[in-house]
Amino acid sequence: MPFSTTSEKASEPSLPQATFRFRCIGCASVTAAAPQDFRCCECGNLLEITDSTWNSRNPVALKTLWRERRTLNESLDLSGVWRFRDLLPAPQSERQVVTLREGNTPLYDLPQSSRTTGVQSLFAKHQGMNPTGSFKDAGMTVAATFARQAGYGWVACASTGNTSASMAAYAARGGMRSLVLVPEGKISWSKLSQALDYGALTCQLRTDFDGCLRLLQELVKRAPVYQLNSINPFRLEGQKTLAFELLEQLDWEPPDHIIVPGGNLGNSSAIGKALLETLELGLIPRLPKLSVIQAEGANALVRTLREADGKHLVSVQAETRATAIRIGNPASWEKAVKVLQATGGACEQVSELEIAQAKAEIGAEGIGCEPASAVTLAGLKKLVRQGFVKREETVILVLTGNLLKDPDFTMEFHRGDLFKGTALEHESASLNPLRHPPVILDATLDAVIKALEQAEKSGPTPSSA
Ligand code: F0G
Repeated sequence: MPFSTTSEKASEPSLPQATFRFRCIGCASVTAAAPQDFRCCECGNLLEITDSTWNSRNPVALKTLWRERRTLNESLDLSGVWRFRDLLPAPQSERQVVTLREGNTPLYDLPQSSRTTGVQSLFAKHQGMNPTGSFKDAGMTVAATFARQAGYGWVACASTGNTSASMAAYAARGGMRSLVLVPEGKISWSKLSQALDYGALTCQLRTDFDGCLRLLQELVKRAPVYQLNSINPFRLEGQKTLAFELLEQLDWEPPDHIIVPGGNLGNSSAIGKALLETLELGLIPRLPKLSVIQAEGANALVRTLREADGKHLVSVQAETRATAIRIGNPASWEKAVKVLQATGGACEQVSELEIAQAKAEIGAEGIGCEPASAVTLAGLKKLVRQGFVKREETVILVLTGNLLKDPDFTMEFHRGDLFKGTALEHESASLNPLRHPPVILDATLDAVIKALEQAEKSGPTPSSA
């Protein structure tokens, strides 16, 4: 079932007429409709969404309008995604919009990490504060809206956990059924349990994420299911709003660096697209550098750039405890390469120990995140050492998932079990000062007071700014 973009009539005045098109990132051919697999019929490359009307907006008027909408109680304005609808593909009707009031995520300063890295102006944009606990919601509201508008009964995704949780929630809200394909034993229980609660048909496949995605690509050609992986360009449109919202929070003074984790590479592609569009429109005077950080064991983009100069994908057999980014064959690698080149960003990899340390440090700021998000802080440390990030520059770390997404990792870390029986066991002792294991005590006043005294002796009070 081809997906048409032509709108019959806009029934609410708050939404503009749909004028967007699909453009191939390879051969640049433009079409009004996209095939089921969201690949170009001419050359097979990925599609992106363009809209010639975006460029004609007045940047000053847009900034005022977006700020005004924050004071309104209309459903679209309460969403931190649809508030920016002027630079998003327009659905035919507001009634089609599936929203959980996503976006509107906080920008936190990181005083402790600022001290340890020496970067004075360091912030975290916490996408883990979205309704299902990850950045996926920003893209899902847009893609689920267009799935509903196209009349699909089923939506489907392959996932390392967060996409499936988000998709299942938005499908449930939008009255659609959802099919989840996840690698068996390789996603966290919290994410899996979300999909179950939101009513998805959840299939744990005996393969990895890349195997799940391959299967889904075949499935969408055979069955009337709508694919909600980040290959779906509507997802990336929604994820653009992270950048719009961030820039607005910085009063449109662009930071020097934005650092994101890289898995399937949809998010970096989306943020990069947003930055280029805001520059072209005159919303910002210059581009931040967008850098992508991967786990050493899932470093396809790092190797693609180092070994193939970004010209072809170097796939890897992915292995990392940061299961969200345990991906060896990232679908959007070409989009990400273009974004890195356009913004002058870096691509780095970090070790399992560095990830665990950074995650504990972000937790100690009272913020917390899931392991995949912590690669950003670990990567920043490397980029500072390399001189790529200067200490006087402004840096934004994009935290993609909530601390509660992977409690097993956190518990194992604090109990000292995370690296037990692995080659890293000995080395991981260096992380002991960051561990805060629970203590089991008799239920007596004496025992608790002794524990307090012990804690007082063993470490300083956490310091704030
Ligand atoms: N951080 C988290 C918490 C994620 O869940 C993901 C991807 C990423 C980073 C990487 O983002 O793929 O856009 O480069 N998770 C996907 C999923 C693949 O299925 O939930 P990316």
